[in-house]
Amino acid sequence: MHSSERRQAIIVLDFGSQYSRLITRRVRECQVYSELVPASTTLAQLQSNPHLDIKGFILSGGPSSVYDEHAPSCDPAILNSGLPVLGICYGMHLLAKQLGGHVAQSHGSREYGPATIEVLADAATHLETYHIFEGITISPAQTEQLNKQGESGPLRLPVWMSHGDSVDELPESFRVLACTESNPVAAIASPRGFVGLQFHPEVTHTPQGKEIIRNFLFRICDCKPDWTPNAVIEETIEQIRERVGNERVLCALSGGVDSAVAALLVHRAIGDQLTCVFVDTGCMRAGEREQVVETFSSHLHIPLVAVDAHERFLGRLANVIDPEQKRKIIGEEFIRVFEEEASHLAKEKGLITFLAQGTLYPDVIESTSHDTASTATKIKTHHNVGGLPEDLSFKLVEPLRTLFKDEVREIGLALGLPEEWVWRHPFPGPGLAIRIIGEVTEPRLEILRAADTIVIEEIRRAGLYRTLGQVFAVLTPIQSVGVMGDFRTYANVVAVRAVTTGDFMTADWARLPYDLLGRIANRLVNEVQGINRVVYDITSKPPATIEWE
Ligand code: XMP
Repeated sequence: MHSSERRQAIIVLDFGSQYSRLITRRVRECQVYSELVPASTTLAQLQSNPHLDIKGFILSGGPSSVYDEHAPSCDPAILNSGLPVLGICYGMHLLAKQLGGHVAQSHGSREYGPATIEVLADAATHLETYHIFEGITISPAQTEQLNKQGESGPLRLPVWMSHGDSVDELPESFRVLACTESNPVAAIASPRGFVGLQFHPEVTHTPQGKEIIRNFLFRICDCKPDWTPNAVIEETIEQIRERVGNERVLCALSGGVDSAVAALLVHRAIGDQLTCVFVDTGCMRAGEREQVVETFSSHLHIPLVAVDAHERFLGRLANVIDPEQKRKIIGEEFIRVFEEEASHLAKEKGLITFLAQGTLYPDVIESTSHDTASTATKIKTHHNVGGLPEDLSFKLVEPLRTLFKDEVREIGLALGLPEEWVWRHPFPGPGLAIRIIGEVTEPRLEILRAADTIVIEEIRRAGLYRTLGQVFAVLTPIQSVGVMGDFRTYANVVAVRAVTTGDFMTADWARLPYDLLGRIANRLVNEVQGINRVVYDITSKPPATIEWE
């Protein structure tokens, strides 16, 4: 697809549900492009985007009740547009109310958590309203659970409910499709392509949810599954070319997957007009710089300047123990090095006007959505290469702005980024400096690098790397007494941190097998001079954070 063409899209209106973003992801998993927009977005605003061919709308759930004083509603033009609309939970109530039906406020009979819906016996005989459940069956395992064995009866589906209110009067031409034990109206539809679901099809606790969403996309909205990695790559390349023209682009590589994929896309689009810069802050993991140089210069043939700036970073970090101070220093120094490099490159090869950044879709939504934690207190100042200030006087090119992390990974694979790189755990911009509690010095960095290598090696060997969100070692400022051979030791305590997480906003400590923990501890103490004790961090986030600083 060329950027001049219009891309089929499903627009998700965000009424504040914790699952809104998930709806967008589920639609994209069906290879249909989807965008999440604030509930107040109007049809005219959406139609002013010449790149979107809107095929339907999904109204998300939300915490409000439709009769609340400030309950959000949707632009009536959306409901009058002639396009299909799927309302989920609050979205269903809104759909019903705005189209002339009625919603009963809950009087105690709320349903939260797992429930079973029963599709009405004659629902399938009215195909024009039944599309949403068409072809949906239950698995043999569910059969046993939901129906008495051998009994053929109405279709029953396990679903996830989370609501208080329910529709008690249907708008004109609507039909009830399903009910639950406590709610006679669990799913409704009209021949015009309106569908309301009282349950959440987007969560995995609704096993047939994805099929239900597929039905909406392909049977009701008539979408084509053309949001594929290759289509995204082609389209993005076209857009980069249009935006950049003959100008030059700089990209700061961090060693992570986002900046790498952004660089690959830009390189595909404009070749040697791109130069990548990798700043070695001295706080990188073992072999990081070599790996970046090897992969980009030798393997992918992308022009790369690796700047060894470890002395100036470590110089400025001397005697600093405050975590925020460390972050600030590294952030500032990074920008300084980056600017210097940009001006060297400009002298050599001409002015660089664009900066490529690996900004992802969740960051974009977060900064525009109404449900952001704008009032949240600052826990940590995150510094990363995506956080370069705008007054660097570059124009921005952000090829990943519409993508979720898993889509970026798929595209990375399709572009030839080595698999090991694609699946790397995130690594913070300030690097090992915030995993050394206390002062950051070269000898302490060496201890932590060696420890980190062993931890990662053992986790990979156990086949657990991909199942974990992040795993690393932390060098504590604690010294403890130990005994090795006949000698007393007085050396560092290292902590191992391994977490499982979906979005890094919350995380749980990983239940690593004891034997594995034992092997890691053994190797750390035996192979790394300066470590004589290992502890395992068993706090979740919250109340802790993932990094120790
Ligand atoms: P916390 O420690 O806040 O971390 O639970 C959440 C995620 O963010 C990463 N992190 C950072 N990433 N610059 C980054 O690029 C930073 O300053 C930074 N601090 C934390 C952390 O590794 C985890 O993935």
